[in-house]
Amino acid sequence: MIRNELEQYLRKAVPDAETIELTIPEHAQFGHFTTNIALRLAKARGKSPMDVAEEIAEKLRTVAPEGFFANIEIVRPGFVNIWIATGTIQNSFKEINEAKNNWGKPTTIEKQTVVIDYSGPNIAKPMGVGHLRSTVIGQALYNIFTFAGWNAIGDNHLGDWGKQFGVLIAAYKEDGKPEDISIDYLVGLYVAYSTRMKDVAAGGAELGEAARREVKKLQDGDEENLAIWKKFYAISIEEFKRMYNMLGVSFDHTLGESYYNSQLEGIVKVALEKNVAIESEGAIVIPIEGIEAPMIIRKSDGAYLYPTTDIATIKHRINEFKADCMLYVVGNEQAMHFEQLFSAVKKLGIVTDQKLAHIKFGLMLGEDMKKFSTRAGKTVSLLGLLEEAIARAKKVVDEKQPDLSEEERQKIAEVVGIGAVKYNDLSQNRQSDIVFNWDRMLNFEGNSGPYLQYTYARLKSILRKAENISTCDVDNLKDETELQVIMRLQEFPEVIESITKQYFPHYLTDYLYTLAKDTNAMYQKMPVLKAEENERNARLALIAAAAQTLKTGLELLGIKTLEQM
Ligand code: ARG
Repeated sequence: MIRNELEQYLRKAVPDAETIELTIPEHAQFGHFTTNIALRLAKARGKSPMDVAEEIAEKLRTVAPEGFFANIEIVRPGFVNIWIATGTIQNSFKEINEAKNNWGKPTTIEKQTVVIDYSGPNIAKPMGVGHLRSTVIGQALYNIFTFAGWNAIGDNHLGDWGKQFGVLIAAYKEDGKPEDISIDYLVGLYVAYSTRMKDVAAGGAELGEAARREVKKLQDGDEENLAIWKKFYAISIEEFKRMYNMLGVSFDHTLGESYYNSQLEGIVKVALEKNVAIESEGAIVIPIEGIEAPMIIRKSDGAYLYPTTDIATIKHRINEFKADCMLYVVGNEQAMHFEQLFSAVKKLGIVTDQKLAHIKFGLMLGEDMKKFSTRAGKTVSLLGLLEEAIARAKKVVDEKQPDLSEEERQKIAEVVGIGAVKYNDLSQNRQSDIVFNWDRMLNFEGNSGPYLQYTYARLKSILRKAENISTCDVDNLKDETELQVIMRLQEFPEVIESITKQYFPHYLTDYLYTLAKDTNAMYQKMPVLKAEENERNARLALIAAAAQTLKTGLELLGIKTLEQM
């Protein structure tokens, strides 16, 4: 990898630099790479940044092999801009070409175990758009960590215990426990009962009391309530699975909150013994410095809560999964919960040097910039959303590809529609609120899923037409557009590595979009199939590598590609 090699030379040339910061300038006139080391070292060396830059440039020329650089320039106030020689770039393509679908794997990752907590919908409640975001972002991170060589474990922490079951069981009993029920029935039951619970004048308080009694009974192992719970669980899981199938999502474990029930008492006991938890108005709480609200781990009626379960879950992930790192792909609105949780498990000594991170994300907004939510009381809306994406994609495909069969067009529409929804989510900085805009999502131009899928299919069609591709002599890749594509391909492992450090999937979408644009620019300028044989072979190899990288990248994002569309 060119970058790794360059870093080595810089380390030799600048032994007193703690870190080697190398960036790729946005504008080509500043070089292939630029570094600000001189600016950072000037003080320590007691010289002006420009003098230090000059020293670095000189040293760099001597430590690198003859012909590695095309040019090194220093510019005010002390940047060192670096151009890689054409021969170096050409040679670097050999490695990419040979790596095939392994291209992109970082070379320096340690083998660690990362547990990724994603999706986490709540049983007997509709899966919300927030859960959709968590599912899509979490699955992408899971794929990327796995590809990078980590031992990734995906765990779907279902909300399958807790107070909604009090409401549901109370309402279900009141309704005479009908045998044949659906997910819509359950959601309706939940919505109706909780609405009545809020109406004090109509006896809401008693209804609330009844709900609390039922959840307590469930947690204490009451057989009737447990049987009802199992029934609700099975109905919900069926519904979630339909959703996951449609999205092509899977998990290594689906240990919901209920899995930890038997451990909660012990957690509270130990927390009290260690003086980490205290009693407060009958409840047991863990006070956290800097956060006003304490974390409640047992209510005054003895019921355990979401935070208690999360403590038990972390213990399990460390003891059973041997987690080195735990990532929680959950919306911004739970920021305080995770701050409290992470601090509590450290106080309890459950977490020592393991890493914990809340992978936050913003809301999904509708085109009117208002919160986009699946209508309460309706479970079909999220499935409906995906169905609408497919239907809208179908319209576009029908127009673009009237010659394909209905069946083929439907298949393309499914891949494009679902891909567009995912890409829309992943291509925006996850921490901001994102806008759900059908037209932009399904646009075949611009930074969209369909544009990348379409670019891939077009590259594959060129390769199909070429039929026999023989060996590539890299010396034939001379045009600046070709060298640009090689340099872009060189970046791929870095992008993957940066996501394993910062957890931003949009780094990958940005990268793939730029790669697609560079590749399109190249083959629009350079003849491929009609070129003279040596050049033809070299360009085909380059196109094959770009196509492979697009496919690898899109698949890591959970987005399918098509050979033809
Ligand atoms: N069920 C939760 C919710 O819908 C999300 C679970 C997130 N994971 C966790 N370990 N707390 O808000």
